[in-house]
Amino acid sequence: MPYLSVAEEQAEWGTGANVPAHKRNRETSPSIMKIGKLPCVLLFVLCVMLFITYIKWNPRKEQAVDASDLQIKTTHELGGLSSKNEIFYGIMFDAGSTGTRIHIYQFSRTPSGAPNLDHEEFRALKPGLSSYADNPIKCAPGINELLNIAKKEIPQKLWASTPLVLKATAGLRLLPGEKAHKLLDMVRELFKASPFLIGKDSVSIMNGTDEGIFAWITVNFLTGSLNNAGKKHSGMLDLGGGSTQITFYPYSKNTLTSSPPGYMTKFELFGNTYSLYSHSYLGYGLMSARLAIMGGEEGKSLQEGEQLVTSCLTPEFVTEFKHAEITYKIKGQKNDEPLFVSCYKRVLALLGGKVEHSKEIPNLFFYAFSYYYDRAVDAHLIDAELGGSLKVKDFDMAAKKECKLIEEAPGENPFLCMDLTYITLLLQESGFPMEKELKLVKKIDNVETSWALGATFYYTSILNKQHS
Ligand SMILES: *[C@@H]1O[C@H](CO)[C@@H](O)[C@H](O)[C@H]1NC(C)=O
Repeated sequence: MPYLSVAEEQAEWGTGANVPAHKRNRETSPSIMKIGKLPCVLLFVLCVMLFITYIKWNPRKEQAVDASDLQIKTTHELGGLSSKNEIFYGIMFDAGSTGTRIHIYQFSRTPSGAPNLDHEEFRALKPGLSSYADNPIKCAPGINELLNIAKKEIPQKLWASTPLVLKATAGLRLLPGEKAHKLLDMVRELFKASPFLIGKDSVSIMNGTDEGIFAWITVNFLTGSLNNAGKKHSGMLDLGGGSTQITFYPYSKNTLTSSPPGYMTKFELFGNTYSLYSHSYLGYGLMSARLAIMGGEEGKSLQEGEQLVTSCLTPEFVTEFKHAEITYKIKGQKNDEPLFVSCYKRVLALLGGKVEHSKEIPNLFFYAFSYYYDRAVDAHLIDAELGGSLKVKDFDMAAKKECKLIEEAPGENPFLCMDLTYITLLLQESGFPMEKELKLVKKIDNVETSWALGATFYYTSILNKQHS
């Protein structure tokens, strides 16, 4: 619905500007006779130029409006001035390991602070950018197809003021630097050829800390704390395959002064300055953790006939684990303790003292995403569609239960005991008490809680600074 109203508004502006333009054209010809030759020629040249500009910017009748004026106005107002119900857009490409997604956001300005998100459109393309590593030009048709969707979605007069950004995650982070850069250079060329607004940092690889900060912005925008000084900000936990992130807004001076260097990030958004505690632990994502728990090494294949032996699987149980293109042979270890106990000891040995324990965590509200969500679903702790709330101790109890279950029937869900034990200990080591509640969701207000929305806000404000 909000999209329709934009189309209507646009049509209105169109006719409004159309009428005087035609009148002016008709009125100029008789008046020419009364003026001297030189002004006449100048006036004629001016008319031709106006006409060309008019044709160039307004191929469709309903868009007959002086687009250049509008663009200047829009770009200017993005900087902070507000007029009611003004519409603007942002385009974010999420270049992930398995595919490329485009998010097209439509916002409207509010009298103060954060804008409203009116509409989100997204499409995905497979495979991911990294699969064109040996032939970057091959990524062009896909990127252009997604750009065409943005052109259809966004009114033409707003193209030049709409920021276009691509952020690449895991897939490109793992490529050799040279190959990743060639791919990104290709995308940059395609973006430059598009009619949208491009900045110097518009196409790049994003690190885990940035990803955490952008997801934090998304969550706190959707929960309304960025627009309401009275509402406390929520923290954000993410557990990916390769890394895990924790991001929160510290209310305690102690956190600000005692955090390790590099854990605090300061930025400006919607007229406020935020200092966030944010850290990404590389190698502590769930899949990397599995490998480490089982004694494997990242990127290193096993020798012929070699297998990893683990105290988190039942004795003599044999399976395979594929991670980062390598398949590992796995076997459960003989032991005379309950499986949960032996697994817990192993995980504790791996995690003990490796993650920062923040004292402020018990006082904050936290959302948790990705594998936190998926494993809670697998353990029947939350609904797969709706998500839900749980306490750290629920992960702990589920771990004990699942470890017991595989002791009786090893084949069912062999890694769930290990995963839940890891999740419980990761939370505890990070400073989450057993009674601490976490909220697990995929969407807030029907909008996906991904980093893409937060990154769009962040880059929109940077681009506007560069252009104002
Ligand atoms: C992540 O990237 C940003 C730039 O986008 C940089 O400022 C920051 O220092 C990086 N953080 C880490 C931990 O590498």
